[in-house]
Amino acid sequence: MKKIMAANWKMFKTHAQGIETATALVDILRNKLPEDREVLVIPPFTLLHGVHNVLQGEPGFFLGAENFYPADQGAFTGEICPEQLRDLGCTYALAGHSERRHIMGEDDAFVGLKVRFGLKQGLRMILCIGEKIAERKAGNVENVLFRQLQKGLEGIDPGVDPETLVVAYEPVWAIGTGEVAGLEEILAVHALVRNKLVQMFPDSGKSIPILYGGSVKPDNCTSIISLDNVDGVLVGGASLAAESFSQIVLA
Ligand code: PGA
Repeated sequence: MKKIMAANWKMFKTHAQGIETATALVDILRNKLPEDREVLVIPPFTLLHGVHNVLQGEPGFFLGAENFYPADQGAFTGEICPEQLRDLGCTYALAGHSERRHIMGEDDAFVGLKVRFGLKQGLRMILCIGEKIAERKAGNVENVLFRQLQKGLEGIDPGVDPETLVVAYEPVWAIGTGEVAGLEEILAVHALVRNKLVQMFPDSGKSIPILYGGSVKPDNCTSIISLDNVDGVLVGGASLAAESFSQIVLA
């Protein structure tokens, strides 16, 4: 399985800054990207077209979207649909990122709807899951993650193509805080997630990539990425500069 090294730019960067970063990233990594790694750049909507132009034709580079609205088209002012994303060269899209769950109020049912709709529309979907610190302290990690997986993947064909589905474990308390989860914690949670995926998808569950996200940096990536069942990383802050993100990609 290839490791997916994903950059989530969130609501950062003007057009010029985004093009500059994407160009620098491609320049640093061209001919250096190991066979078993792929790079996924997930910029804000305003940068999709420009970044697509930079990544197009570069082997191993993919474009993803941070969000979409689960409908074909229509009167949804301010929203973007999967077809529009694919038209701009997107292969992947996120659903259930903790900032959308906890700032925008998206619930499990809506996240599940997005995953189902995105897959139907030909996007590879990255379902993000993760517990809050209070949930961890209360011993509820497994309950929370299993609920997010169950609802987020409800209605997905048990024979789903594992190339089209990714799960990202991002403990909410580790996102943007500099507080990375311990290796033991990551190992334990990824094993739980793997077991649950195999239970839900008997044929493909073992091949669905599970990414870790939450304060991944160049100096902690090597040990995280070498853990069992860690099939890549989803990086926020440290993905904004081409130098640090390329170090992570090559870690
Ligand atoms: P971070 O963000 O790397 O800044 O913690 C990760 C994410 O939100 O995907």
